[in-house]
Amino acid sequence: MSIHYSRDGDIAILAADNPPVNALGQAVRQGLADGLARAVAEGARALVVYGEGRTWFAGADIREFGKPPVAPFLPDVCAQFEAAPIPVIAAMHGTVLGGGLEVALSCHYRIALPDTRLGLPEVTLGLIPGAGGTQRLPRLTGVDRAIAMITSGRPIDAGEARAAGLLDQVSARAPRDLGLAYARALLAKEAPPRPVSALPTPEPVDFEAARAAVAKKARGQRSPIAALEAIEAATTLPFAEGLAQERAIFQSLMQTDQRKGLIHAFFAEREAPKLPELQNVAPREVAALGIVGGGTMGAGIATAVLLAGLPVHLLEMSDEAADAARSRITANLDGALKRGKISDGEHQQMRDTALTVGTDDGALSTADLIIEAVFEDMAVKEQVFARLDAVAKQGAILATNTSYLDVDAIARFTARPEAVLGLHFFSPAHVMRLLEVVVGAATAPETVATGFALAKRLKKVAVRAGVCDGFIGNRILQHYRKAADHMVLDGASPYAVDAALEGFGFAMGPFAMGDLAGLDIAWANRKRLAPHLEPRERIPSYADWLCEAEQFGQKSGAGFYRYEGRARSENPEALALIDKDRAARGITPRAFEAEEIVARYMAAMVNEAARVVGEGIARRPLDADVALLFGYGFPRYHGGPLKYADLQGLGTILDRIHIYAEDDAYFWASAPLLEQLVRDGKSFDDLNKS
Ligand code: 3HC
Ligand code: NAI
Repeated sequence: MSIHYSRDGDIAILAADNPPVNALGQAVRQGLADGLARAVAEGARALVVYGEGRTWFAGADIREFGKPPVAPFLPDVCAQFEAAPIPVIAAMHGTVLGGGLEVALSCHYRIALPDTRLGLPEVTLGLIPGAGGTQRLPRLTGVDRAIAMITSGRPIDAGEARAAGLLDQVSARAPRDLGLAYARALLAKEAPPRPVSALPTPEPVDFEAARAAVAKKARGQRSPIAALEAIEAATTLPFAEGLAQERAIFQSLMQTDQRKGLIHAFFAEREAPKLPELQNVAPREVAALGIVGGGTMGAGIATAVLLAGLPVHLLEMSDEAADAARSRITANLDGALKRGKISDGEHQQMRDTALTVGTDDGALSTADLIIEAVFEDMAVKEQVFARLDAVAKQGAILATNTSYLDVDAIARFTARPEAVLGLHFFSPAHVMRLLEVVVGAATAPETVATGFALAKRLKKVAVRAGVCDGFIGNRILQHYRKAADHMVLDGASPYAVDAALEGFGFAMGPFAMGDLAGLDIAWANRKRLAPHLEPRERIPSYADWLCEAEQFGQKSGAGFYRYEGRARSENPEALALIDKDRAARGITPRAFEAEEIVARYMAAMVNEAARVVGEGIARRPLDADVALLFGYGFPRYHGGPLKYADLQGLGTILDRIHIYAEDDAYFWASAPLLEQLVRDGKSFDDLNKS
């Protein structure tokens, strides 16, 4: 039974009991409809609805999307509630989201606990509210507030909701008691039902301006714009017609690849940290952390650890470096304070008590887990790990943040390889959500479990990765980056490549991204790999030449672009070096349309991701999707590279790869897994389920 019916005198009560989040699946909808009918039939004078467990209804049951809908449908249940002849009170707590908020909007009175959060996140799933949210919310709160909530999908807190007219009361009591007390007060004053749909048609706003602002942020995502259309309908159409329009938009979005991609991303994020081999493995207790190296990454990781409420000791090489590391961390904490993420007291405690910085490695002896983030140089890593092994307490876990180096080799520098793993953070480490947990040949399950537990504590999305050059994300990145370079060698301008990929939904194209990260990083990596180069590999020289001219990107004012403040423009020097490179190779440049640029870039990405899955570096396709989504700015509405491949059709992608291979058989050798899936008529998603 998902909805329990009970009575308290002449008040009927419906308690939702569908753990974990009281999603509005078919049984819950049926329970609500039946419960209301029973309350009315029994002559109850008011109805209170609340949720058992951690929340009120957190939305429609997303797992039902894409399947044939089963009655009763949520809009009908909402209509029945709104039309009830007795006052209906929503007594809410937890996360009141999507269809959950729409049920509340169909009740006549809305009250909540102070830490309740309320929102309509449907656009983040590629949809719009489909049970009246776009019609009722603007009637209740005004159009501006409705636009802000619905097009962003971001929830607001109870205080804000009260101020916006969404809640009638905020009070700290158990939801059932809160609802009953409110119902009794209503009955005492004989308050009538109060349907939101009967409120006057809301005043329109400048929808053209709103559309322009929303489109700019949406970067090609359709749902926020579609939501605006539905809200506009609330200002021009009678309620019932507005509802019909909302429903039509909702149903058409349900069929889109964007909806499929976004829902895949939602579940993939939650699936990635579930490792069958860790089911009965307890992580080690981690109460204090050590970090070695306080540069870009060490300082960012220290910040993330402090923000999660853990103490950290950071080791640097010299007093100057230690001071610089402390300043970086303090600046990060100041930023968190400014954005309201931490209080003054927390800021002070983190800065002055939880963080210690020094040059004496003996201070690391109390740490339960130590993360190394020193220079990307095996000799330095060797020195550091040999020393860490000596000073770290017995049972302490040693992690490396290396981007490319061999974690197994690093583990062998210690006498405790079972306690060594890679914890690969992304820059800026206190902001980026991805954490690759790199599992070496000797890494013990308990060590892996501890890495995942730490990720959760730091609110990161953890993905298991095997050992190879670049693990999951950087390995795939190296490959599709090359496809971009090849197109530039063959005639595309870096600006055309960036524009095409920004059009696809990336926040930044690969050349702008290189400029941001610093072109010297990739340069150093090319030098490292040079001795092992495969002669058939096409590696352009222009990027090396740019670095030789000390044009490292944003930090030196020029790279592929020129920078003045935040404005970027084309860099003629970069173009001249590209021309020189083409001429030296006897290449006659040809034109590339945006469509071809995207097709080649994505084919390279999919092909390498398929190889990474085929080799077991990523356990499942969804792990590669999650890595690209949370670490590399892959547009969420495409779902990740392998979901995108499924949606395009694997045959289509493989055919393209075969065509591209006619010119460069080495680079475009197709991944065996991709070939096999096409042969078997299967998708990457089939592997996620197995
Ligand atoms: N439907 C089905 N399952 C859901 C769900 C939903 N709406 N929301 C959460 N779940 C599942 C999760 O997949 C997870 O399952 P698992 O344990 O098997 O992995 C479990 O519930 C717990 O979820 P979280 O791990 O995310 O728990 P948190 O406590 O971190 O977060 C939450 C809770 C804030 C409710 C978060 O789960 C969330 O944001 N859920 C989605 C809410 C949402 O988007 N609602 C709108 C749906 S669309 C809609 O309502 C359409 C309507 O307009 C018609
Ligand atoms: P960085 O050069 O900014 O910082 C390295 C720091 O380590 C310096 O402050 C240096 O003083 C310190 N250091 C060097 N040897 C030391 C020792 N023996 N003891 C104590 N401190 C020492 O480098 P960055 O960018 O922070 O990179 C660190 C590691 O993280 C590298 O392995 C890198 O590959 C990896 N990484 C870098 C990313 C990035 O975007 N910069 C992303 C993910 C991983």
